[in-house]
Amino acid sequence: MPLVNMKDMLDHAWRNGYAVGGFDLVGLEFLDGIMRAAERERSPLILSLAESHFDYYDFELAMAATVAAAERASVPVAIHLDHGASLESAVRAIRHGCNGVMVDASHHPFAENVAITREVVEMAHGCGVPVEGELGYVAGVEGEDAERHPGEVVYTSPEEAEDFVARTGVDFLAVSIGTVHGRMRGTPRLDFERLAAINARVQRPLVIHGGTGLDDGQFRRLIENGVAKINYYTALADAAAARIRANQREEAGYTALLDGVREAVAEETARCMRVFGSAGRADEVLAAAEPWRPVEHVILYNVAGLDDAGVEAMMRTGREVLSGIPGVRRVITGRAVQEGARYRFAWIVEFVHPAVIDSYREHPDHVAFADTHFRPVAGDRVSIDYQAVE
Ligand code: 13P
Repeated sequence: MPLVNMKDMLDHAWRNGYAVGGFDLVGLEFLDGIMRAAERERSPLILSLAESHFDYYDFELAMAATVAAAERASVPVAIHLDHGASLESAVRAIRHGCNGVMVDASHHPFAENVAITREVVEMAHGCGVPVEGELGYVAGVEGEDAERHPGEVVYTSPEEAEDFVARTGVDFLAVSIGTVHGRMRGTPRLDFERLAAINARVQRPLVIHGGTGLDDGQFRRLIENGVAKINYYTALADAAAARIRANQREEAGYTALLDGVREAVAEETARCMRVFGSAGRADEVLAAAEPWRPVEHVILYNVAGLDDAGVEAMMRTGREVLSGIPGVRRVITGRAVQEGARYRFAWIVEFVHPAVIDSYREHPDHVAFADTHFRPVAGDRVSIDYQAVE
């Protein structure tokens, strides 16, 4: 189960002078190609899903495949929500398996960016999930010509960066020092002095968005100055599209057009892993990082003072209310198969991380449900929170 804590992964990269790629995927070809590269290069990896791409695939289906790919990997993997639009997006992403989240409020004024990001941090840290915040503005659109979306690049100020991190508690900071999202003509000019000043003040892993189009020397200087995560998408999309164009023939069907796409994505991903210095680091990260494992919160109980319909209604309310609490993956309500069982009913509530044991217990929706609907009728009960032993 090499899903690992993303904070441990990026702290390792930051301390040891390399960066992990956050590769945005937009389908199974990308997922498979990126995973192949990580296995071949023995590299830690961040599988990234950007909310701006959710029109192109079903997020929940993609997450099921992404989690499955991460769980069967032999290299350490984290799963990240990239450019989330809201707190609700982050809650949903964590529920479906993201163990790192970014809610991008960088287009708002400083105080609003702080307030929005702070709220995300409080929620996500209650789930054990680290948070990336962005300060300054990286213009452009992933997968498109940057020149078509010039926007106004807002450079990150080192003083504000220090203040932002202190006020929000973000674990990683995305900074704007001259990169843009998308395809570029020529190589961008990066403000390394600014980056060095931010790194000196912030003292935690920095993130660069808009990795496409930078040269190897630029990547190396970014990493020397505290960048531990590099977001990368457009060049993968261009490699995939070039492959599809090369496959184009009058009679080519869907699978013929996709032939070799995964390999094209894998090659470009592997090249990045070597340039970023993450290649060959998998075992060190596996040794240093907390394995990311869910917790099963199990309650066995008997009911007094409710008929069958009352028990059904109580369970239904519980499923609805409890499954909305941040960090809850799913809620199962059960009834014993054997008539004479010591306990007649069960709850299984799956938490994404042990941190949820406390945040769930204190969450107002849980307190209200437990005090009003459950505890008054279920005095006879036992419970355990456990993690699978592998
Ligand atoms: P590029 O598409 O320019 O590589 O940027 C990707 C990115 O920053 C996603 O957040």
